[in-house]
Amino acid sequence: MEILLDTANLEQIKKYTELYDITGVTSNPTIISREKAEFWPLLLEVRKIIGDRQLHVQVTADTWEEMIKEGECIREKLGKDTYIKVPTTEQGICAMKHLKAEGANVTATAVYTTQQAMMASSAGADYVAPYFNRMNNLNVDSKKVIGDMANLFKIHDKKTKILAASFKNTEQVMDALMVGAQAVTVSVDLLTTMVENAIIDFAVEGFKKDWIKTYGDKKIYEL
Ligand code: G3P
Repeated sequence: MEILLDTANLEQIKKYTELYDITGVTSNPTIISREKAEFWPLLLEVRKIIGDRQLHVQVTADTWEEMIKEGECIREKLGKDTYIKVPTTEQGICAMKHLKAEGANVTATAVYTTQQAMMASSAGADYVAPYFNRMNNLNVDSKKVIGDMANLFKIHDKKTKILAASFKNTEQVMDALMVGAQAVTVSVDLLTTMVENAIIDFAVEGFKKDWIKTYGDKKIYEL
């Protein structure tokens, strides 16, 4: 099970890669533009912070030839193992096929259907990124679609992993993992929500009070 951060915010990346076992960072043009920073210095800093963890960076071009050029440039500047995110369109599928032939890591993005996942996997994509909440907004059963993708890859012995994305709440994240997504990319707000609530605090406070009654403020290593 892999957890990635869906952000290009340097402070968030620093903080949460230290706190949790994070597989990597995903970005897209919207996420990057939110930072209002120069493109390459921002991504080079992300790479510096995350070291050899995964970094997924999306191409912006419309044609497969230009997507490949962008992908090559991303790999040159940010490391050969950087994942090139490519929209799962006709041009995108062609770019994926060529990028894989060059040995690049490829993530197929903007995935809403099982047939897109099938096409991306056939082109050799390492990950497909289905958009959970955006599917829900279209009245599409995201759980079923992701479950179908997982079955499809299993039946046909495909190595492509499912990196589910576009989450608005933790239930969606857990649903994606429960139906077979190997990885999820989430905002730091959702990650925090996973482990922060009043009931957990109440339990922890109870243990603390009982400890203090007997041992004061001593820590275990001081006894
Ligand atoms: O990584 C992109 C995906 O997470 C899109 O998310 O929130 O824009 O639907 P959102």
